[in-house]
Amino acid sequence: MERKLIYMNNAATGWPKPDSVIRAVNEYLSAPPVEGNRGSFTGNPYESAAEDCRDRLARFFGASDKSRIVFTSGGTHSLNLAIRGLSLNRAHIVTTMTEHNSVIRPLKRLEHEGGAHVEFVRCDSNGAADPDDIIRAIRPDTKLIAVNHCSNVTGAVQDTAAVGKAARERGIPFLVDASQSAGHIPIDVEAMHIDLLAFTGHKGLRGLQGIGGLYIREGVRPEPLLTGGTGVKSEDLYQPEAMPLYYESGTLNIPGIISLNEGVRTLEGGAMEADESRAAELMERLTNGISGIKGIRLIGNSRPAIMSFVIEGKDPEETGYILANMYGIAVRTGLHCAPMIHRALGTYPLGTVRVSLSKWNTEGEVDKLVEAIGKMSG
Ligand code: ALA
Repeated sequence: MERKLIYMNNAATGWPKPDSVIRAVNEYLSAPPVEGNRGSFTGNPYESAAEDCRDRLARFFGASDKSRIVFTSGGTHSLNLAIRGLSLNRAHIVTTMTEHNSVIRPLKRLEHEGGAHVEFVRCDSNGAADPDDIIRAIRPDTKLIAVNHCSNVTGAVQDTAAVGKAARERGIPFLVDASQSAGHIPIDVEAMHIDLLAFTGHKGLRGLQGIGGLYIREGVRPEPLLTGGTGVKSEDLYQPEAMPLYYESGTLNIPGIISLNEGVRTLEGGAMEADESRAAELMERLTNGISGIKGIRLIGNSRPAIMSFVIEGKDPEETGYILANMYGIAVRTGLHCAPMIHRALGTYPLGTVRVSLSKWNTEGEVDKLVEAIGKMSG
């Protein structure tokens, strides 16, 4: 018998997708494809799909020039493009213990291969680093500040505007990992002084897996990770330098771009704020429900609706296994590809059980999780 899945793992990938996203992708896949300047036909109604999405993303993130938004395969690709593309050999780099491995590993590789020195600023027991600590870690030879906007483990939101201001005053590129915040909390690259904003399309932005992007402020110019065909300037043996072609080699992921455009559209006009309020209400119901249970340690936030917990004396992996197999509840357990924050929280090496809700969850689902946790801890 098919059991209905209770999906509480939106920080891994958002689900369900809005009907309009599914419809838009289906309609595109049923029509003749966009050839991206690699064919003789013109007049395909989807020809402007990439530019339409770029335009929407620029408005959504407060960027005045849409050509500064570059499509990538997701957050990891964007972060690698930013970190590996800048000249950071032997540089001092400031980041935090809340980072995901998609930041930690490229930085550690730079340390290992390029002689860089990376400083990981500590975070508090909720998973937030103090902006003053980040600013205090800046040195005259600091060439990059990289900050996780929202922890994928606890949902703690970093005060990026304060750090961005300090970085801008000192002329240091400021990279923000918005993988977990984009689509959940407002982001304005101008007001937050962001030079490089890495985002993924399949979480809060409600698109498909395999699409994401990087905003690159004018004047900041990482080297591309990839070079190759762009569909234009075929006579040029070097990568065209104009934005965004400099960073967009290969056929674009048009189905992903269409999903992203429609996903972001569903967040406009106050919808993101309303949907987040609903998710936060559900998260409050959950935390109220389990905070009284004996032997539970809760770490987290209601907005974005991500939190972690551990049951005293129980391996989080076992808790996740029971939730999945006895209750049909999908969560994520362990270190969540973010080992350093678990060291700071004291939850290393076993990690935590992470719950990440969306507006599509229900009170009934939350109550079922509370009941399950109550039984397991008892
Ligand atoms: N970073 C994603 C997560 O936390 C994949 O699950």
